[in-house]
Parts: sequence; structure tokens; C-alpha cells
Amino acid sequence: MSADLILLVDDEEQIRKLLESSLQRRGYEVAVAFDGIEALRQIRTKMPDLIVTDVNMPNMNGFELTRRLRADHRTARVPIVMLSARKQADDILTGYAEGADEYIAKPVEMAVLAAKIEVLIKRMKATAGEAIKRGRVVVFLRGKGGAGATTLAVNSAVSLAETKMYKTAVLDLNLEFGNVGSHLNLKPQHTLADLAEMQPDQLDDATFATFIAQDRSGVQICIGSNVPEHAELVTVSAVQQSIDRLRRTSDYLMVDTQPSFTPLTLAAIDTADGACVVSEPHVASMKTGKACLDVLEKLSFPKERTLLVINRTTQSGLDTDEVSRYFNRRPDVVVPFTPAFDDAADRGRPIVVLHADNAASKQLRDLAARLTVLAPVGR
Ligand SMILES: Nc1ncnc2c1ncn2[C@@H]1O[C@H](COP(=O)(O)OP(=O)(O)OP(=O)(O)O)[C@@H](O)[C@H]1O
Ligand SMILES: [Mg+2]
Repeated sequence: MSADLILLVDDEEQIRKLLESSLQRRGYEVAVAFDGIEALRQIRTKMPDLIVTDVNMPNMNGFELTRRLRADHRTARVPIVMLSARKQADDILTGYAEGADEYIAKPVEMAVLAAKIEVLIKRMKATAGEAIKRGRVVVFLRGKGGAGATTLAVNSAVSLAETKMYKTAVLDLNLEFGNVGSHLNLKPQHTLADLAEMQPDQLDDATFATFIAQDRSGVQICIGSNVPEHAELVTVSAVQQSIDRLRRTSDYLMVDTQPSFTPLTLAAIDTADGACVVSEPHVASMKTGKACLDVLEKLSFPKERTLLVINRTTQSGLDTDEVSRYFNRRPDVVVPFTPAFDDAADRGRPIVVLHADNAASKQLRDLAARLTVLAPVGR
């Protein structure tokens, strides 16, 4: 196994050299950078297992570096140790608030630093491994709003839960106008926006339970934010933590997103085992649906793990052959139009429960079944 890579960021050459040789002696591979900008450049070429950064540096200081790393889904989980001669409590709090995992005052005691590094790397590997073993994550995407992503995410979760074979959950990441809750007439006590007020280590099982509400079908829901002005409080790390936790307790987690590739949407895609791209059979919607498929391809998301769903939200629209020509692939599922959807949404019960025999409900159950084939549990 290759050695763990530590990126050391400090503007003082003497300290860099001292820490570098000391960490190398302890078996780590060490890369060095002299400021935040150089660190970001290096991280882009090679992802370290842990970052040790000074606070005071020219060009970009350690606080800013940490803030940027935490806001990017690719680097949000990398453990960060901050080193600084600034010992005031305020600095330490700022360090933690920006997302540092540890804050160590200079002069550094090498044995203490080494012990903390070892614990952080071990913890990171343990969470990564654990997350992979558990439930599957399916992300629902559409480029143009109103295509039915929420309806499909909720109904497929309920369909699977109703088989009694699967535990399912829905995470609502449509932060400004999310309505997963209203589809099931549920309101969890807390939303992910409330996490901004808490220290990350406060998120134990009991606290996270207050972020969950459970439907009578057994489906659990978790909401990003329930008021548009709180949307910006939801962080990449909150999304990752909630996905990790929800997939630990369910076989399938459906993630409803908002129609744009924000860092939060990308963080969800990053964890996803399957993606469901929803489009209406109209050119404007299909154009954005195709763009979503293109983005997934650019992100190297495996094509065989994407489903294309055409949702006939209105009575008009192109026929399925025309749609297939446009996408250059046949849709995996086509959901017919029915006013029963609006009835179900208005009554806060999913259509697969309220109108189980409706032709649309059959297609939704088919969609749910396909998700279990696309991303089987227990492998
Ligand atoms: N097949 C269908 N037939 C008729 N109405 C439908 C169908 N699918 C969804 N609807 C209705 O279309 C509306 C939009 O659906 P939904 O809210 O699920 O879309 P969305 O993609 O999540 O939208 P947003 O981008 O706003 O989050 C809802 O009122 C829903 O009841
Ligand atoms: Mg929606």
C-alpha cells in the first residue's frame, strides 16, 4: 500500500523543512506549498489524504484555504489541521468555524501533531469505507424545473418501501422551493440549514433524528431548507454528512435536487450509485435533460447507471419515438399524464398509494424496480 500523502502549507521554509522531514520519518509522503493558492493548485493535481496548514500566509491564508476546500465537494472531506502562532481563542474558533478538524498552536510539538494526524486519517478512512458498504444513493436531476423530479423521487421511495423489502429515504436538496415534505404532508423539526448553528461534532444520532420525519409507508425524509432565505446556510459538508447518515439506515436514498449544478448538487452526484434524469417530452425540457446527461458523462458517471425518464406532465408533447431520436436513446420509463398527480400532491399522499391502479403508478413502480436493478443493494 502506498504511503498516505500529507500536504504541508506554510510560508516559512524552516518550518516546512522541519515538519517535512519529521513526517517523512514517520512514513508519510509529504508535499509542500508556501501559500493557499499554491496549495489549491497542488490539490487539483493530486489529492492529499490530509492537509496541515499555517494560518498567516501571503496571498491566501489558512482560513481562506480551509473555507474553499470545505465548499468544494471534492475536497470537503479532507481532514485539515491548522497550525498557528496565534493562540487567541478567537482564532481557534475561526479555524473550527471554517472547517478545520484540529487547531494546534505553534511551536508545534511533533508527537502531538503526529498523533492527531494519525487519528484523523484513520477516521476519514473508516467513514469512507462505511459509507460505501451501505444503502444506495439515487440522484434525481432535471435541467428545467417542473419536470417531475420531486414527484418521481418521492413515489419511487414509497414504492420500494411498500414492498417491505427495502428501507428508503428522500433527501430534499431543492433548497429554495423544496416540496418533498408537502408531497407526504411531513415536516421534520430541523432542516440542514439549522446545522449552520451547530458544531459538526454535535451531530450525533439523537440530534440527527430531529432532522428526520417518517411517513406511514416507512419512508424517512430530510429537508435541506424550508425557507428560501436559509438556502445559503446549507453547506457541502452538511449534505455529505446527511447522505452518509441516511444511507447508513436505508437501502435506498433518493436525492431530489434543484435544477442547477451547484456545489451541493455535485456533492450529491459524487455519492450517487444511480442517476435519474427527468424530462418532459417538450424540446425546452429535453434540451436541458440532454445537458444533464452530458454533465454526468463529463463527470465520468457510468452511463449504465443513468435512467432517462420521460414524464408527460401535460396532455401534449412529442411521441416517444421522436423523444428517442432526440436523445439518441430510448427512455427507460415513460410516465403518462394524469390529473391524479395534482390530486395526490394536493392531498399530501403519493399517487402510488392514493391511486395505486392508475397507469402512471404502474410506471412509477417500474421505475422503482429499475433502480434496484441499476444499483442493487448488498454488493
Ligand atoms: N405525469 C404527470 N401528469 C400530470 N401531472 C404531473 C405529472 N408529473 C408531475 N405532475 C405535476 O407536475 C408538477 C411538477 O412536478 P414536480 O414538483 O415533481 O416537478 P419538479 O421537477 O420537482 O419541479 P421543481 O423544479 O419545481 O422542483 C406537480 O404539480 C405534479 O403534481
Ligand atoms: Mg421539485
